[in-house]
Amino acid sequence: MATDITTQTLAELQVTSQDRLQQIFRILQRDFEDQTAPDVVQGKDLVWWEERRTEWLGRKNGVFVRIGENWLKAADSQWRPHVGKQLNQLRVYVEQRLESLRKEIEAAHEAAVAVRERIDLSLPGVERAIGTRHLIQQTFDELIEIFLSIGFRVVEGPEIETPYYNFEALNIPEHHPARDNMDTFYIEGARTEHLLRTHTSPMQIRSMEKQKPPVRIVVPGKVYRRDNPDATHGYMFHQIEGLAVDTDLTFCDFKGTVEYFVREFLGPKARTRLRPSYFPFTEPSAEVDASCHVCGGSGCRICKFSGWIELFGAGMVNPAVYGFVNYDPEKLSGFAFGIGVDRFAMMKYGITELPLLFQNDVRFLRQFP
Ligand code: PHE
Repeated sequence: MATDITTQTLAELQVTSQDRLQQIFRILQRDFEDQTAPDVVQGKDLVWWEERRTEWLGRKNGVFVRIGENWLKAADSQWRPHVGKQLNQLRVYVEQRLESLRKEIEAAHEAAVAVRERIDLSLPGVERAIGTRHLIQQTFDELIEIFLSIGFRVVEGPEIETPYYNFEALNIPEHHPARDNMDTFYIEGARTEHLLRTHTSPMQIRSMEKQKPPVRIVVPGKVYRRDNPDATHGYMFHQIEGLAVDTDLTFCDFKGTVEYFVREFLGPKARTRLRPSYFPFTEPSAEVDASCHVCGGSGCRICKFSGWIELFGAGMVNPAVYGFVNYDPEKLSGFAFGIGVDRFAMMKYGITELPLLFQNDVRFLRQFP
């Protein structure tokens, strides 16, 4: 074994000629070659490589340290140059071979990783179920589609509002009872007062501030009220606000638009009725009713035997509102409405419990693909 000869001196190994010297170096080299032969190296990793490096080149007790001590230093001075030359040749050989081995091992490792991580495009993919639009969204889309068809456009606004937009500019001053009717969530800790909008009407103001007349917009969105939750109430629901302002809009335009909308949504047989109502930001104000879509007006359980279903609040824009947005009330007129979307969805699909819409129970949602 090579390790054996490295612990002996040249004298002990009876090296007395150049030939003999070359011979023992060749034994050593062959030993190294055997250890690093291709079939041996096959599948080896860097840990194995490091062991080989330490075994041969290690500073503490590597082969070269041993033969440096036992062969070179212990040699007669006349031998020493020959031993030194052989030793250096072998050392260069070992170093070069080890270096190329390291590269081979690293390359093999990288190739193996590449194979393992290769993306196989022929494998079947992961199929994710595509959901459907929520019933509320479907209803939004259906309602919006009707208004788009008669020249309205869609805008959206913030759910966190200031009292100015939610109340003041809509002609609802502080201490006005209408503020109590819509029990409001106020936001704690805000530097200026903020609240969750109680209706989508603030977007009437924001839209008119931003653009010159004519205005024809619908505003879908969430609104919030401190209601006690029950079958038909929650702390959040959905509205679509509508606003039309122009130089020549009359109550007839208002009524015609509302009737058109009701027929589009409930079918050509639906009739419309306006009842007097009150909103601070419309004058006159009206509740829009439609003939019951279930019994056609003859009276049934759904319409509580009245023949009519209450749909939404609306009216002609109160001229006082124009003052807040620098519109000229002498030249302009218009109408507005606020539709409760959840109620529409429930009505259309015969749903009696509002919470069902928000519990995200797929057994419920799947019924409205
Ligand atoms: N903002 C009113 C509400 O939420 C509805 C409404 C809108 C009434 C526009 C008239 C005009 O009750």
